[in-house]
Amino acid sequence: MTKRELILGIETSCDETAAAVVANGHDVLSNVVSSQIDIHARYGGVVPEVASRAHVEMMTPVIAQAMVEAGVDKDDIDAIACTVGPGLIGSLLIGVSSAKALSLVWDKPFVAVNHLEAHLYSSFLEEPDLELPVVVLLVSGGHTMLILMEGHGQYRLLGETLDDAAGEAYDKVARYLGLGYPGGPIIDKMAMDGDPHAVKFPRAMVNDGYDFSFSGLKTSVVNYVRKNPDVADVDIAASFQEAVVDVLLTKARRAVKEFGATGLCLAGGVAANSSLRERTLDLAIEDGIKGFVPSRSMCTDNAAMIAAAGWWRFHSDGPASLDHGADSSLRFPSYA
Ligand code: KG4
Ligand code: ZN
Repeated sequence: MTKRELILGIETSCDETAAAVVANGHDVLSNVVSSQIDIHARYGGVVPEVASRAHVEMMTPVIAQAMVEAGVDKDDIDAIACTVGPGLIGSLLIGVSSAKALSLVWDKPFVAVNHLEAHLYSSFLEEPDLELPVVVLLVSGGHTMLILMEGHGQYRLLGETLDDAAGEAYDKVARYLGLGYPGGPIIDKMAMDGDPHAVKFPRAMVNDGYDFSFSGLKTSVVNYVRKNPDVADVDIAASFQEAVVDVLLTKARRAVKEFGATGLCLAGGVAANSSLRERTLDLAIEDGIKGFVPSRSMCTDNAAMIAAAGWWRFHSDGPASLDHGADSSLRFPSYA
């Protein structure tokens, strides 16, 4: 029997302290996430300095728990993969320093992982035989990207947001309506009781290229609520969500057709959205393509996806130098 290769993944790019052990890039032995949502909720958003301090406190126990839950010790680990960017620099540095320290002390290779590329790999954790090329809709709090994945490490960035990310729009609209943080899951839940056709919010650039723009939609919601204070919050939530999902899926669907992709994959925190998930699966059936919708816990930030992407990177690029730093604005590794 061939030996399983075990990667310890570490993720601290924003407000989740996470560690996971994954075998051969897809077999998840443990996946521990310590969320700081409760700590940041009172400020209405992530406070970078507070996030860094929480990572310092949680990093060691989270790694220890991931090792124990996987039933492995340091001698079983083949490499340590860690997010090096993009993200909050103070937060990234906690994970990178911890990963490098373990790499030195345990004498294991260190693998540098791009957080955005790792989101793509959440699909492979549950669908290891995913047939390429696929179009990936990567929608998170910091990014909104449409990507053509042609092979491992071979990506074409088709379009991205010109202003706010989709998750950012959810969070800002929720803050304006006084609904709490993070806004995505709250609006998602409220939308279930609202009428998605109550208000016709704008669908920016819907038939125009593959870039996105969500800041006008956010302003339009704010202006509408100011002028119509009696409209039910659930109808605003449902109508806003309908506009976001319409734009995301119109463009993603067009990209699948134009590039002859076998399917459409969702990735990133907003991929946990009920309407986006349901409508992706519906359109996949309608268009005769595959719809890949990772489980919700794999969509939001986690370290299993870091270990999965790290396994591929380890095989293609080998280990990174221990001089490798963290880069808060690291770009997505696209060739176009
Ligand atoms: O990928 P992620 O965990 O962190 C980043 O890398 O940004 O994404 C977090 C974002 C937040 O903006 C949050 O509001 C959004 O994902 N989100 C959702 C849902 N769950 C999380 N947005 C819409 N519907 C959801 N159910
Ligand atoms: Zn993320």
